[in-house]
Amino acid sequence: MKTTFPIERFGGLRTPFYYYDTALLRETLDTIRREAGRYPDFCVHYAVKANANPTLLRIIRESGLGADCVSGGEVKAALEAGFPAQKVVYAGVGKSDWEIELGLDNDIFCFNVESVPELEVINALAAARGKVARVAFRINPNVGAHTHANITTGLAENKFGIAMEDMDRIIIMASGMEHVKFVGLHFHIGSQILDMGDFVALCNRVNELQERLAQQHIIVEHINVGGGLGIDYQHPDRQAIPDFAAYFATYHKHLHLMPGQTLHFELGRSVVGQCGSLITRVLYVKQGAHKQFCIVDAGMTDLIRPALYQAYHKIENLSAPADAPAETYDVVGPICESSDVFGKAIDLPRCQRGDLLALRSAGAYGEIMASGYNCRPLPVGVF
Ligand code: LLP
Repeated sequence: MKTTFPIERFGGLRTPFYYYDTALLRETLDTIRREAGRYPDFCVHYAVKANANPTLLRIIRESGLGADCVSGGEVKAALEAGFPAQKVVYAGVGKSDWEIELGLDNDIFCFNVESVPELEVINALAAARGKVARVAFRINPNVGAHTHANITTGLAENKFGIAMEDMDRIIIMASGMEHVKFVGLHFHIGSQILDMGDFVALCNRVNELQERLAQQHIIVEHINVGGGLGIDYQHPDRQAIPDFAAYFATYHKHLHLMPGQTLHFELGRSVVGQCGSLITRVLYVKQGAHKQFCIVDAGMTDLIRPALYQAYHKIENLSAPADAPAETYDVVGPICESSDVFGKAIDLPRCQRGDLLALRSAGAYGEIMASGYNCRPLPVGVF
C-alpha cells in the first residue's frame, strides 16, 4: 500500500503539519489483528509514547488493541480515547505518587514495576485506598539489540528494569505484601529492531527465567515482551506494513509459554510509523560556499529524530513536476542549532520557494516529541 498525498488539499494549510494516512493505519491494524489472532494467547497493546494524537488513538482503540503507557499523562490520554482500563499497562522507571494513584483509581490491568522501592510505594498507596495493585516485574534481560545506542534498553548498563539476579528477591518480597498481586514478567530490549534474531535471544532468556521460576512452582499469568519491531525508513512504500506475520511467528516458535499463560506485546513504531509524514514548505534555496541549502519551515522542534539519533527520514518533493532535474541539497530547518538538519547531500527534484516536501515515516516519535523551542507553535495533525 502506497501513501498518496492529496496536495491539492494542502494548499490552504499552514505548514509544517503532520499528514496521517488513516487508510494505511487501518490496514496495519487489520494485519496485526489477523496475524496476532492466529495465536489465541497473544494480546497486543499499542505503545502510546509513539504517538498520542487523539484521532489516531481512537482508531487504534477501535481496532481492539490495549494501551501501553509510560506516564500518568499517557494513562489519561488512553482512558480519554476509550481504551478500557483493563487493557492499560503502565511502565516507567520513575512513577510519581499521583501517577500511581491514577492507575490505582482506574484499576488498570497492571503496573510494570522497575525497582524494589517502587514496589514498596505501590503497596503503600494501594493500602491507603484499600486496593490490591496488579504488578508485573520488568526484568532487565541483559540482551543487546542491533539498533541505535540511544534506543537500546535491555542491557545491564541501562537504567531500565530489575536485574535478573534480583528477580527472586523481589518476588519473595511481593508475596509478603498484602496490597500487590504479582501477575507477570515484563521485558523490552529496544526499538527499531529488524533482526528477528534479537527477539529470539530475548525468547531464550525468558525461557531460562521461566524454568528457574517453575522449579520454585511460580507460574505467572502473563509474559510481556515489550515492543521494538522496526520499519523500513529507506523505502517507506516498499513494505509499508511491517512483517507482523514473521514477528508473531518468531515469538510463537521460540517463547515457551506455560499452560494458561498469555503473551503480551507493546508495539509503537510498527503500528504508526509509516502512516505519518511531516509536510513542510521550502522557504529559501541558498547557495553556500560549498553547497546548496534547501531551507524549510519545519525544524528539529517538529521532528527531532534526525538531530537526536542521526535518524534517516526519506525526503520527497511533492510539488516538483515529474521531469524536474535533480539537484543536491542539505535540507535544513530554521532553528538556531547546527544540528537542525533533516538530511545532508540529498538529491531532490529541483526545489523552489513554496514547494511542499514530505519527510516520510514520521508517524512514530514525530509529533509526540515536538517541542516549543524558539517559541515555535506545535505542529498539528491532518488526516
Ligand atoms: N515498551 C517499552 C517498555 C518501551 O520502552 C518502548 C519504547 C516500547 C514498548 C515501544 O517500542 P517500539 O515498538 O515503538 O519500538 N524516540 C525513539 C524511540 C524510543 C523508544 C522508547 N521505548 C525514536 O524516535 O526512535
